[in-house]
Amino acid sequence: MKPGNYINRLMATRVLHVSMLAIISLFAMEAQAALRYTVTNNAGTTPGGMRFTNQIGIPYTRQTLASATNFIWQTFRQASAADRKSVQQVSLFIDNVGGVAYTSGDQIHVSASYLAGYSGDVKSEFTGVVYHEMAHVWQSNGAGQAPGGLIEGIADFVRLKSGYVPGHWVKPGQGDRWDQGYDVTARFLNYCDGLRNGFVAELNKKMRTGYNVSFFAELLGKSVDQLWSDYKAKYAQ
Ligand SMILES: *[C@@H]1O[C@H](CO)[C@@H](O)[C@H](O)[C@H]1NC(C)=O
Repeated sequence: MKPGNYINRLMATRVLHVSMLAIISLFAMEAQAALRYTVTNNAGTTPGGMRFTNQIGIPYTRQTLASATNFIWQTFRQASAADRKSVQQVSLFIDNVGGVAYTSGDQIHVSASYLAGYSGDVKSEFTGVVYHEMAHVWQSNGAGQAPGGLIEGIADFVRLKSGYVPGHWVKPGQGDRWDQGYDVTARFLNYCDGLRNGFVAELNKKMRTGYNVSFFAELLGKSVDQLWSDYKAKYAQ
């Protein structure tokens, strides 16, 4: 082969790779093309509003909303739009409200005073809160029949998997009831997910149209009470 030929072939391969990459990224963009994110800081110049602006900011928040969405689709194994809830826009607000954050439909509200008072890495904490709240946007609630503790547990399971876990969470094996909610239930669900890879994704899928505690037994072959006592025994002493 003449050297010129070789270079031509190399370039042709390069061009092919570049156009394949372009096509792949086009598809990746397509997946989120219909989805819009808006971020509004309603807390202005209050300490929390200022801390949001200085240490977190709107561009980072928009990126995080998109990353959280992609992560949740993966965690819930919702590869195609047909598997997902139909959501066109997610809006996040920094508001002068109490508590930490809440989500109503496709609107996420984060407390400015919580951000102001948080001691530690506020950006990391905010990110974890966004993953939890974004899970609420995409998760199923068993057509309103699922226990609140399970809903909060699945949202914190997403946060656990994202790695943005705060230091104050319970350790694996801690807690009194499987449906206690939040970190307790998230740790338990993580144990269940270890017994059957993708368990939480399958549970969430079953919860699209209703809820029955027998979902645990259908997926794992044991009642939820048996699973909870196995879990407690595993971490006992
Ligand atoms: C839940 O599932 C069990 C076992 O499959 C069934 O007997 C029971 O009727 C179901 N409960 C509800 C509320 O659907």
